[in-house]
Amino acid sequence: MCGIIGFSGETDCVPVLLGGLDTLSYRGYDSAGIAVAGVSGVHTVKAKGKLDALKEKLKTHPVSGSTGIGHTRWATHGAPSDENSHPHTSGTLTLVHNGIIENYAAIAEKLRALGYTFVSETDTEAAAHLIDSYYRENGDPAAAIYRAAQEMHGSYALGVLFHDRPNTLYAIRKGSPLIVAQTDSASLIASDIPAILPYTRSYVRLPEGILAVLDGAEISFSDENGSEVALKTETVDWDVEAAQRGGYAHFMLKEIHEEPEVLRATVAPYLKDGLPHFDVPGFDGGALAGVERIHIVACGTAMHAGLLARQWIEAEARVPVTVEIASEFRGREPILGEKDLVLFISQSGETADTLEALRLVKARGVRTAAIVNVVGSTVAREADDVIYTRAGPEIAVASTKAYIVQCATLRLLTICLALARGRMTEEDARRQCRILLEDVPESIAKTIALAAEIETIASRLKTKPHIFYIGRGADSVLGTEASLKLKEITYLHAEAYAAGELKHGTISLVEDGTPVIAILTEESLAEKTVSAIREVKSRGAFVIAAVSEGIAENREIPSDLLLTVPTAGREAWIAALPTMTAMQMIAYCTAAQMGLDVDRPRNLAKSVTVE
Ligand code: F6R
Repeated sequence: MCGIIGFSGETDCVPVLLGGLDTLSYRGYDSAGIAVAGVSGVHTVKAKGKLDALKEKLKTHPVSGSTGIGHTRWATHGAPSDENSHPHTSGTLTLVHNGIIENYAAIAEKLRALGYTFVSETDTEAAAHLIDSYYRENGDPAAAIYRAAQEMHGSYALGVLFHDRPNTLYAIRKGSPLIVAQTDSASLIASDIPAILPYTRSYVRLPEGILAVLDGAEISFSDENGSEVALKTETVDWDVEAAQRGGYAHFMLKEIHEEPEVLRATVAPYLKDGLPHFDVPGFDGGALAGVERIHIVACGTAMHAGLLARQWIEAEARVPVTVEIASEFRGREPILGEKDLVLFISQSGETADTLEALRLVKARGVRTAAIVNVVGSTVAREADDVIYTRAGPEIAVASTKAYIVQCATLRLLTICLALARGRMTEEDARRQCRILLEDVPESIAKTIALAAEIETIASRLKTKPHIFYIGRGADSVLGTEASLKLKEITYLHAEAYAAGELKHGTISLVEDGTPVIAILTEESLAEKTVSAIREVKSRGAFVIAAVSEGIAENREIPSDLLLTVPTAGREAWIAALPTMTAMQMIAYCTAAQMGLDVDRPRNLAKSVTVE
């Protein structure tokens, strides 16, 4: 996720901008830049890569001035490059942006017709030219920004520096975060609290649609009618690490809370006219229509995302899918056909087993594709086709938001495959994409709000040595990931079983009080799972049922605790992601109640770079 810092004051702003960018680097980035209003105008220096590359460039292109903006970019539109880095300039102004302007293509087309030329591939440049076009018309910065804001769909936090007003910074936001802070002699904008902590502990959360104007120590806020608005100042009492956690007790909890936002951020750039479009050669309609088999290769949670995708792709696109644990895939002689798609999934892009499996497939001359979260990681560099998820940096060892966006990307792939093979209408595809972009994030947010019920469930699990998860179809696969989450951070023994398979042996482990968590998202399989619940209950199990809304309405679930998971539709795929959020929350709350080091569980590393 991009990071913004801005400063207006009396002293040189460059150290403040660089310090702020350094602090915001935990958000993840692939390039950085600053723009400073100096005596001879506004000067911009930007560089692809880490902040050190920018600092190196500043040695040969020094800039100084008392007002400026800075940005760390996490590539969305356009690859990491100097040109695509922020700040972006258009005639009268220079700006930085965090978020995604969904209708940038239409805005760019209009501006090209007006004579604007684009030098980057970013959506941000469209915003710069749009504000510039209105500023040239009316000479009023606030009016120009408001007019542009009305036209832009999507999310944005903007910091704007007009060249003819070198002491003033303008900021506005929708969707993406931005705070404003003041010291005795200066004012600042930032994407997040840690960046302002060296200067002040007081800040204002900029509300959506309110324009902040910063001029030295003076700050004013106004609405679109130009009326001044008074805003409440908040005070931080956290240290820097706690501030990076955004006030949450653990990164894992923060990252679960980010799921609605990162889900939208991942899906939106892959929609064109409401339909999925990945813009890489191996994923165009023609290529996907010819795919004979798909091999998904990954480790751990990423592999579990693949298991869920198998359920979707086989049922809806009718393409056979195998899901392979990367370390096992490497150790045998996989049979790969010329028309097969071999897809690697990795959050870090550095997992040794996944990487070696990728190299093995490439050595066989078979085309490789990857779904990766970290831009520029080794898997991303070595795969032939890459699709990025946009979870931002995941700091907690237990993967949560990265899994959600992997699944969302795989859902888009399912729709692409089904469309390419004539198994889904465009109308249905559009409907599904809209649900994925709008309704699923909302259901996830509602699920997170069930924290009190989830705490009760956690309190029943924390003293139990063995816990079982059961479900059928996709629910069995969700159970597999849910049990991994619980095991890795609580150290409790948890196993997932296909609900129909329990009675073939494992049910012998169920005794009085054994917790069994039953997952029900699939209407057509619900009755059978209910039968399995009865089987374990009659052997004394304590049953916790996580049931999606529609299913809970229709039938009596013989459980001891019932968690009704919000969902925006009857189809199981819609319920899958909020249900997994509930499972992640169950694992999190159990570990937190046990007083464990949730973010750094024993024996585990975030990125497994050894074989
Ligand atoms: C579990 C977890 C791991 C990773 C696995 C693959 O919460 O995070 O199972 O999913 O080590 O890592 P990546 O996705 O980075 O390849």
